[in-house]
Amino acid sequence: MVKVSFILNNKPVEVDVKPNEILLDTLRLKLGVKSVKRGCEKGECGVCTVLLDGKPVYSCMIFTVQVNGHRVTTVEGLANDDLFKKLVYSFAEKGAIQCGYCTPGIMLVAYSLLSQGRGITKEDVIKALEGNLCRCTGYKKIIEAVLAASTRD
Ligand code: FES
Ligand code: FES
Repeated sequence: MVKVSFILNNKPVEVDVKPNEILLDTLRLKLGVKSVKRGCEKGECGVCTVLLDGKPVYSCMIFTVQVNGHRVTTVEGLANDDLFKKLVYSFAEKGAIQCGYCTPGIMLVAYSLLSQGRGITKEDVIKALEGNLCRCTGYKKIIEAVLAASTRD
């Protein structure tokens, strides 16, 4: 086992992991973060997305030892964030959620895009969400929701 320390949702955590343990397993099984989902485990579906130092990554594709000393954020850590709240309201208004399985990952990618603080286009949203699959809503409402959040007061 290896001791790994990192900042999870603005709080320091320390956890013992196997050298080849993936971040997805550490988050879900050891740290109780249930918004990060298990899907393909091949870097194809995006349901395991987290922000690593603010950038979206697939937590099924990195070993936990690689985040030592870094900052990992999931939707649980953004509950009080104003920009994130705009996304939540816009997703609800546009009906961009059905089962919700993909939603945390998609919201993290959208949050990262909106955090860049510039005007975004539909094409920007489509490109950003390329690595996140949704099997329920289709992408139209999701894209509308992200665009609505980008102009929300
Ligand atoms: S579970 Fe990680 S990309 Fe699908
Ligand atoms: S809302 Fe069900 S997979 Fe996207």
